[in-house]
Amino acid sequence: GALAGVVEYRNVTFAYPGAESPVLSNISFTARPGQTIAIIGSTGAGKTSLLSLLPRLYDPAEGEVLLDGVPVSRMDRADITRRVALVPQRPYLFSGTIEHNLRFGKTEATDQELWEALQVAQGDEFVRAKKNGLGSRISQGGTNVSGGQRQRLCIARALVSRPRVYLFDDSFSALDVATDARLRTALKGITADATVIIVAQRISTITEADQILVLDNGRIVDRGTHQELLETSPTYQEIVES
Ligand code: CTP
Ligand code: MG
Repeated sequence: GALAGVVEYRNVTFAYPGAESPVLSNISFTARPGQTIAIIGSTGAGKTSLLSLLPRLYDPAEGEVLLDGVPVSRMDRADITRRVALVPQRPYLFSGTIEHNLRFGKTEATDQELWEALQVAQGDEFVRAKKNGLGSRISQGGTNVSGGQRQRLCIARALVSRPRVYLFDDSFSALDVATDARLRTALKGITADATVIIVAQRISTITEADQILVLDNGRIVDRGTHQELLETSPTYQEIVES
């Protein structure tokens, strides 16, 4: 049968509770297993809000978000969590060990799986360099690791959970260009038959995406591949040049 992990947003309009105007208007797109869909747009365009509707951090006022054809509003939250991993824009770590942080929600993962995930996330070197390795303690809020290290641990945590759908919200921004490139190459292998949705600031992160959605003021104003958008989308051209 078809691989699970089909994400569909169908005419989704969303306003934050108490807000007068919607932050997302009439959003429609489909992301399929094996595909990478990128979302780009200026700050405040609604990228994080858009991602937040799939794991049901919020529910839309109108339209539907579907996972494998089923509206997420009718699914069990635990079921969604098993199938969808969100790496948030502000990645969080718990006080506890690195191992505890990586295994969150996936207690049966082996140590080897943890190291593999760290390797893909470009985080194995700094964990290996720590005296206690996977047993090293993370302080409350992860203040004893750098922003880039925190991002890598949160990416590794998502990989450990082996979801059908990955949501990366600006997850590569704290990485230098070379590390970002290495990470995405490694990621391709491990996420090959999963559905990947990436919010990115850096164009180089998304040039190979199967489809790029250009978000402006809560609306998808253009969509296409990098090459198509370069030729057709003034908004995309502006972002590329900025
Ligand atoms: N917003 C809000 N309440 C929230 C979160 C966001 O009213 N709890 C508003 C923001 O002020 C903004 C809009 O929703 O006007 C979209 O926010 P967001 O989705 O976070 O925008 P992003 O495109 O993710 O912006 P950035 O690139 O800065 O992350
Ligand atoms: Mg955001």
